[in-house]
Amino acid sequence: MPAETESDTPMETNTANEAQEDIVVVSSSDAEITVVSEPSKSETTTTASIAPKNKLAKVTDLNLLPWVEKYRPAVLGDLISHQDITSTIQKFIDMDQLPHLLFYGPPGTGKTSTILALVKQLYPRDYQSQVLELNASDDRGIGVVRERIVGFASTRTMFNKKFKFVILDEADAMTNDAQNALRRVMEKYTENTRFCLICNYLSKIIPAIQSRCTRFRFGPLTAEQMMPRIRHVIESEKVTVTEEGLNAILSLATGDMRRSLNILQSCATAYKTVDEESVYVCTGNPSKQDINTIVQWLLNKEFSACVDGIFDFCSTKGYSLQDIITQVHLYCVKIDFPHAVKCKLLSKMADIEERLLAGASEFLQLTALVASFTTARHEAIELAAAS
Ligand SMILES: Nc1ncnc2c1ncn2[C@@H]1O[C@H](COP(=O)(O)OP(=O)(O)O)[C@@H](O)[C@H]1O
Ligand SMILES: [Mg+2]
Repeated sequence: MPAETESDTPMETNTANEAQEDIVVVSSSDAEITVVSEPSKSETTTTASIAPKNKLAKVTDLNLLPWVEKYRPAVLGDLISHQDITSTIQKFIDMDQLPHLLFYGPPGTGKTSTILALVKQLYPRDYQSQVLELNASDDRGIGVVRERIVGFASTRTMFNKKFKFVILDEADAMTNDAQNALRRVMEKYTENTRFCLICNYLSKIIPAIQSRCTRFRFGPLTAEQMMPRIRHVIESEKVTVTEEGLNAILSLATGDMRRSLNILQSCATAYKTVDEESVYVCTGNPSKQDINTIVQWLLNKEFSACVDGIFDFCSTKGYSLQDIITQVHLYCVKIDFPHAVKCKLLSKMADIEERLLAGASEFLQLTALVASFTTARHEAIELAAAS
């Protein structure tokens, strides 16, 4: 592929290698562009280091990419966890019997990375002609199925026996009409084309499509699974992180590797040392100490003093009630209330969270939270007195 930007230093350009250079542009689901260059035989340097010097000036400097993209697993073996999924897919490939695929599960668990690594492995040279990738930024109506997908799937590449691949990332954004049109297309062009659909919510994919695909669930990653990968990034980026800081990142990430890398990057940019405090401040999450204080007030203070106290505290520190509830809930599970009282309290907290998500007034919900705790305290005392 010819370079589009000219170099001022012609001596840097190795004309003998020009014909061998082959750039494969891979666009990720998150709209960032990753560029992978296949080094020519005489070059062993990686993309990032050769980019500014030679004629591949268009190549993105890896250091400018967000860490989630920079450290996106390039091969299936780089993916943490889900070994059972990758090995099953590998077996399908080895047997030349790859079915249509449907990946589902929460965000940041490696769905897009898995399929990108897979197609890079399947089509090391002819990625652009053999793979069609549509993600949330593309229109998802029936028109796309009729025009782009059918147009791509129905054409055969001469002398190429390999099947083509259509990746429909964030497929839960597709309309029902589009999904209905797709099921016919999937059947008709099975000989020529394989589909991989990726979504967060399986229920948003119509059953007819589900039954045409082999489904793989990407569960949330555990802190133990994320730890080695995040340590690898910490070492590569030379970030100073304390053990407590690392644990705070992993607990705030809640199984989402993308979130853990994003938190790490923003904290590393803002602070010299990433410790527990900086992680909480950087993400705007209440620190453990602050939550401790709030729980103590909820359990001991009188109603209006408690409401005023928490309100002032949250306003000064800029906390949202939703973050407070999420953290207080973790404490609540451990509070020594009678079982029945605790269950009622937790259920009320869930209702408050739901109302907050629906856009209810924060102050009103704060009073509801304090009221729930006050009632629970009274009930606990009454139960203790009765027994
Ligand atoms: N299983 C995994 N192994 C290694 N890195 C991962 C894994 N899952 C996610 N990541 C990291 O998180 C980023 C986002 O992952 P992605 O595959 O796009 O998630 P999803 O498509 O499931 O939302 C990747 O660029 C990668 O850095
Ligand atoms: Mg994705």
